[in-house]
Amino acid sequence: MTTFPIQTLNAISPVGLQRLDRSVFDVGTDIDSPRAILLRSADLHSVELPPSLYAVARAGAGTNNIPVDRLAARGIPVFNTPGANANAVKELVIAGMLLAARNLYHAADYTRDLVAVQGLSGADLEKQVEAGKKQFAGFELPGKTLGVIGLGAIGVLVANAAQSLGLKVLGYDPNVTIKAAWQLSPNVEQVSSVEELLSRSDMVTLHVPLVDGTRGMINAERIALMPQGGVVLNFARGGVVDEAAVIAALDSGHLHSYVNDFPTEAGAVHPKVIALPHLGASTGEAEDNCAVMAVDQLADYLLNGN
Ligand code: MLT
Repeated sequence: MTTFPIQTLNAISPVGLQRLDRSVFDVGTDIDSPRAILLRSADLHSVELPPSLYAVARAGAGTNNIPVDRLAARGIPVFNTPGANANAVKELVIAGMLLAARNLYHAADYTRDLVAVQGLSGADLEKQVEAGKKQFAGFELPGKTLGVIGLGAIGVLVANAAQSLGLKVLGYDPNVTIKAAWQLSPNVEQVSSVEELLSRSDMVTLHVPLVDGTRGMINAERIALMPQGGVVLNFARGGVVDEAAVIAALDSGHLHSYVNDFPTEAGAVHPKVIALPHLGASTGEAEDNCAVMAVDQLADYLLNGN
C-alpha cells in the first residue's frame, strides 16, 4: 500500500492523529518531502513549499496563516475546520464580556497586589478591599446591546447565547447564508451596515476572517460612532482592528475596554486592554474536534481524491 508522508507543523491532538492508519500514513515533524502539511497556527507564508506537496489542512477555521493563492496556483487544496471550535470561542466571548463589564481582570490583579506586593493583612487589607469595591464597580448586561459582526458558525452561537444573558443583539453580515440565518434566533435583529450596528451597540464582537475587505475595519471613524463607554471584543484576528485607534479611544475615555485575543506590545500593557494569548480555540474539546475534522478531510483527499 502507498505511504503518504504528512508533516505536522504544530502539535495536533492525538485524538485526530490516531485516526490515520500508520500503515498508510507516515506522520511527523521532520519529513523532507511531505505529500501533505497538517498545521494549526504556524505561518506557512514563510515556509518553502516542497514540490511533493499535494494538500494542506489546518486544524482551525482561519486560513490567513496559509498562502492560499500560491497553493491554489499549484492546484493544492487547503482544508480547514469551520465550526469545529465555535463553542470554545463563544464561551470565551461571553467570558470576555463579563470580564469587561465587571472589571474582573484588573480587580483580580488589584487584590493579588494588595497581598503579594504590598504585604497587607488584617485591618489594612480589609480597608483596601473596601476601596477596591468602589474602584472596580461594574455594569450589568441586561438592557445593553451587543453588536455581532460576522454571522458564521461562531457569530451565530455568540448572538444566541448573549440573548440568554438579557442582551439585545444586533447582527451584521453581508454574506449571511440561508443556513446561518435559519440558525439565528428570530430575536436577533439583522442590520444592513457596520455603521448602524456600531452606532447602536454598547459592545461589539468581531467574527470575520482577516481578508482585504475586513483589514482595519474597526477604525477611528467607526469607533467614534459607538456610544460612550463601549466595549470592543476581538476574537477574530488582530488585523481586523486598527489598534492605535482603539487605544486612542480608550485613552480619551470613549471606549471602556478592549478584549483582544491577539496581543501586541502596545495593547498587552495598556490598563484598559484585556489581552489574551490567542486562547479562543484552546480547549481540549475544540482541539480534538478540529484535529478530527482536519485529519478526516485530509485522509479522504489523499486516499480518494475527494
Ligand atoms: C481558528 O482560526 O479557528 C483559530 O485560530 C484556531 C487556533 O487557535 O489554532
